[in-house]
Amino acid sequence: LFARPWEFLTSVTDMANLPEAADTEIAFAGRSNVGKSSLINALTGRKGLARTSSTPGRTQMLNFFVAPETPLTIVDMPGYGYAQAPKDLVDAWTRLVFSYLRGRPNLRRVILLIDSRHGIKANDLETMELLDKAAVVYQVVLTKADKIKPPQLARLITETRALLAKRIAAHPEIIATSSEKNKGVDDLRAELFLLATQ
Ligand code: GTP
Ligand code: MG
Repeated sequence: LFARPWEFLTSVTDMANLPEAADTEIAFAGRSNVGKSSLINALTGRKGLARTSSTPGRTQMLNFFVAPETPLTIVDMPGYGYAQAPKDLVDAWTRLVFSYLRGRPNLRRVILLIDSRHGIKANDLETMELLDKAAVVYQVVLTKADKIKPPQLARLITETRALLAKRIAAHPEIIATSSEKNKGVDDLRAELFLLATQ
């Protein structure tokens, strides 16, 4: 599935222009700069597929990625919680992300990225609440695991697991990743493969 040549399909800035809801969609969500676009590149093995940047606010539209004969569309989204851009713009991104998460019929799973150094924040909880209400299953993926020490990571996983146990639509599995060191990427691939072929 991920050995295929993934390519960019389209970008949209409003719900009216979404591509046809044809196959299984999975979307990458999380705070600004958490590493959504980098993880999509690591998964697909295509470094420049989704644009990344050390400056938050890089991804500003819903970006759709597809591969030939693959029943799966990957969606990269703007991050939430970025306070430095003009408020109108940030509000528009957040509205778009939340309407998409709430109202996309073929959205099968949300990969909810959490920075290993920061853990779950208030706006991540808001997103979880929205997904719980919309009954969209979300999977927490810890990012930038190369930035913290193994015992710290182990503690974060334990805490996160306890928090997720109380949520409605949370997938129980937590995957720790590093796009930089290619860690945990195979595990996530395996999960998405199962999802796409089910
Ligand atoms: P927005 O689109 O702005 O919301 O950001 P994003 O979540 O798509 O993050 P992006 O993938 O652009 O990465 C943000 C920064 O984090 C970049 O400088 C990346 O190089 C860095 N980064 C991403 N993943 C990792 C990782 O696993 N390890 C390390 N050390 N840095 C990472
Ligand atoms: Mg991005």
